[in-house]
Amino acid sequence: MAENKLGAYNIADLRDMARGHLPRAIFEFIDRGTEDDVALANNREAFDRIKLRARTLVDVSKRSQEITLFGNKQPLPIVIAPTGTAGLLWHNGEVGMARAAAAAGIPFTVATNSMTPMETIVREAGGRLWFQLYMWSDRRLSHQLVERANKAGFEALIVTVDGAVAANREFSHRNGFSVPMKLNSRLVADLMMHPRWLAGVYLRQLLTSGTPRFENYPPEIQDKITARTFKKSILKNDSLNWDDLRALRKLWPRTLMIKGTLHPEDAKLAADCGIDGLIVSNHGGRMLDSSLAPIDVLPSMVDAVGKKLTVMMDSGVRRGADVVKALALGAQAVLIGRATLYGTAAAGEAGATRAIDILREETDRIMALIGANNVAELDRKCLALPGEVTALGG
Ligand SMILES: Cc1cc2nc3c(=O)[nH]c(=O)nc-3n(C[C@H](O)[C@H](O)[C@H](O)COP(=O)(O)O)c2cc1C
Repeated sequence: MAENKLGAYNIADLRDMARGHLPRAIFEFIDRGTEDDVALANNREAFDRIKLRARTLVDVSKRSQEITLFGNKQPLPIVIAPTGTAGLLWHNGEVGMARAAAAAGIPFTVATNSMTPMETIVREAGGRLWFQLYMWSDRRLSHQLVERANKAGFEALIVTVDGAVAANREFSHRNGFSVPMKLNSRLVADLMMHPRWLAGVYLRQLLTSGTPRFENYPPEIQDKITARTFKKSILKNDSLNWDDLRALRKLWPRTLMIKGTLHPEDAKLAADCGIDGLIVSNHGGRMLDSSLAPIDVLPSMVDAVGKKLTVMMDSGVRRGADVVKALALGAQAVLIGRATLYGTAAAGEAGATRAIDILREETDRIMALIGANNVAELDRKCLALPGEVTALGG
């Protein structure tokens, strides 16, 4: 068992620590969903509705969580999802998270909206790095960003496709939170109440690298988002379509995935564009409130394209049991967003490492209790889906 120096026994403990460290505006930004947080809550409820079938007297003494993803072996079936603004949680937070992933032998995804330049993460963290792309309305600038990621040596590109327009995060408007930060009286009061964060993260960042900003943005966009007349439409692309994906397929030479698809018909269209993988996701409940939970649609996505594409999922994973349920329903791997964000906000790299350790140990324990020695043994027979329990009298 990994040492628990932080005293965090589960991801919920790391969340509590994150809440204590962060200004409310930033904590809510990472923790909440959108509008009424319906999708956020349902992501968890959907996992909890699925039950695991315990097995006994199976020799499970040689357990392994190793998987092969896009031809590469990795010791755990998890990947760190792209999460923009993670650099605001801890000084050098994105590098810390990437280092934790590298030490665990799992991929880390650098977000377009990272607060650390992609090249710095490559240089300072190493390990297996994926890059996540938000297509801007100016395709030329987006393609230049893809070329930059290619040159930096990223092993895979994830195109996020669930953000045609900006999410309606009313709490962030109320909290006055945006990047670059525009201080209003409410935000100033909030920051003052968190002196450890203010000194250790914000002021330190100001002194070392200047105002926190989206470092992967080219100067053309950077100039615009700091301008008073900034219009969010520059950052969003409501005309993105399958032709854009085909163009990216021509541009990107290595593994290409899309993230944010929840409809089997979209999955088939994606497969026709020649991509390699898809991530079934509702953005952790942060985009379309009342969206279906990815874990509920996962089986239909695997049925639609599982033979052609590598299907993964995210949204709501907080326990090893969730990892096991997703794998048993056909996901090849699971992405985690908030789990490592809470860890990073609690204690930087050590906290991200703790989050990964917690998920590793919980997954291992669940595998033992349901009689599985390896990931290939996880399938529908390990589960009782809603409705099945009574039918089987189990
Ligand atoms: C604070 C935060 C920032 C995020 N930023 C991005 C992003 O820039 N690009 C993206 O594709 N997804 C982003 N996501 C979504 C995650 O990649 C992932 O889909 C989601 O967090 C998974 O749900 P979970 O947090 O319940 O694990 C973000 C999520 C959070 C919590």
